[in-house]
Amino acid sequence: MLNIALFGPPGAGKGTQSEHLVKEYNLLYISTGDLLRQEIADQTPLGIQAQSIIAAGGLVSDEIIVQIIEKTIIDHPGANGFLFDGFPRTYVQAYILEGLMLKLNTSLNCLLSLNLPEEVCVERLLNRGKTSGRSDDNEMVIRNRLREYNEKTIPVLSFYREKGICYDIDGTRSIEEVTRELDAIAANELKKQPLNIVLF
Ligand code: AP5
Repeated sequence: MLNIALFGPPGAGKGTQSEHLVKEYNLLYISTGDLLRQEIADQTPLGIQAQSIIAAGGLVSDEIIVQIIEKTIIDHPGANGFLFDGFPRTYVQAYILEGLMLKLNTSLNCLLSLNLPEEVCVERLLNRGKTSGRSDDNEMVIRNRLREYNEKTIPVLSFYREKGICYDIDGTRSIEEVTRELDAIAANELKKQPLNIVLF
C-alpha cells in the first residue's frame, strides 16, 4: 500500500497536485476539506456544526475530523492506498492517523510538505475565489486560515521530521514542475515496498 499525506498552507496546491497522484497510483483520495463541504451541502448535523467554523477560517474539532475520516475508510474497504489532503492538521490528528494506519496493518509512507510564501497563497486563493464559489476564499478569512496553519498545523511537521518521512517541496514552481517532484518521490516510495511473489 502507498499512503501519502499532502501538507501545506491554504492555496499551496494540495488539491491540484492530488489529482495526478490519485490517478497514477490508484489511491483513495481523502480531502477533509471536500468531505466537510459535502457534509455542509447535505446539512448533516456534523456539517451544521462545521459550517460557521469553516466560514470563519478556523479549524474544525478533531472529533468531527476523526468521524469523517473513519467513515470514509470504512466505506472503502478495498482501498489500494490513501492520499490524505489537508489531514492531519493537529498533533491529535497525527496520532489518530497513526492508529488508523496501524489498524489497517499499514503506515504512512511520506508526508509531502508544499512550502510557499503567504502572499503567494493569498494571491492564488483570491484568484480561485473569483470562480470557485468557496465562501472562505476572501481576504479576511484567508488570513485567519493562514494564522491557524501557522499556529496549529506547522508544529505537526516536527512529528514527521522525527520519523524521517517528511519531504519539503518548493511549491512556488509551476504545477508541472511540482507534479514531477511529487511523482518521483511517490515512485521511489513504491519501489521500497516488498514484492509479494507466489511460486507454485
Ligand atoms: P481545505 O479545503 O483543506 O482548504 P485549505 O487547506 O485551506 O486548502 P485549499 O483547498 O484552499 O488549497 P490547496 O492547497 O488545495 O490549493 P489548490 O490546489 O486548490 O480546508 C477548508 C477548511 O476546512 C479549513 O479552513 C478548516 O476549517 C476545515 N478543515 C479541513 N480539513 C481540516 C482538518 N483536518 N482539521 C480541521 N479542520 C479542517 O490551489 C489553489 C489555487 O492555486 C488554485 O486556483 C490552483 O489552480 C492554483 N495553483 C495550484 N498550484 C499552483 C502552482 N504551482 N502555480 C500556480 N497556481 C497554482
